[in-house]
Amino acid sequence: MRVRLIDPLSSAEIALVAKRMLETLVEVEGTERGLQVHSIEWLEQRVRWHLDAASVTGLVLVAEDAGGDIVGHLICRLDNRGAVPTGLIATAYVLPAFRRAGVAHDLVDRAHHWFRAQGAALTSTWTSGTNSRLISLFEKFGYQIVDNGPNGVNGTPMVKLGAYLDHVPIRAT
Ligand SMILES: CC(C)(COP(=O)(O)OP(=O)(O)OC[C@H]1O[C@@H](n2cnc3c(N)ncnc32)[C@H](O)[C@@H]1OP(=O)(O)O)[C@@H](O)C(=O)NCCC(=O)NCCS
Repeated sequence: MRVRLIDPLSSAEIALVAKRMLETLVEVEGTERGLQVHSIEWLEQRVRWHLDAASVTGLVLVAEDAGGDIVGHLICRLDNRGAVPTGLIATAYVLPAFRRAGVAHDLVDRAHHWFRAQGAALTSTWTSGTNSRLISLFEKFGYQIVDNGPNGVNGTPMVKLGAYLDHVPIRAT
């Protein structure tokens, strides 16, 4: 398994990640609610926005298997609005057939390396309060639930997980 940057010039890779973001919403929220949250066009725009350095300091990572197929992704960005620069993990997804093999762990670890390089002191992510797999994944890195509230689009109860980057275990490169 190899983690690399998405090819920012590849419309096919951007479309694939957007499609998997939609699959994430369907899996986490259920088909009806999941399809109501964002259109595929909005999601594709969202991937492109994270790749536009004039708009945001963002990163789109993909994990590929030995054959070069993309089996997972993670999107994150730096938030400089508060007193302390914070890394925000926006979304992560791994194809069902490749789960429980450490793919998401590798993607999150790479994001932590990047956050540190960007000077972030905190890291955080929001997810549905019922997404126990994702919550377990981040708790493994020492994140704790630090906030909660409804999703602005469809009202789903969400939790915010956060950690000080200094306290997060980071694999040596
Ligand atoms: C959550 C998700 C990204 C995890 O991906 P993964 O590659 O299977 O995760 P990893 O193999 O790296 O697991 C790392 C740790 O996460 C936790 N975890 C992952 N899947 C879990 C599960 N099904 N049940 C409980 N804990 C789980 C465990 O602590 C695990 O460590 P362990 O295997 O040593 O016990 C994946 O299940 C997924 O894509 N889910 C749907 C999309 C989603 O919910 N995305 C987040 C939306 S914001």
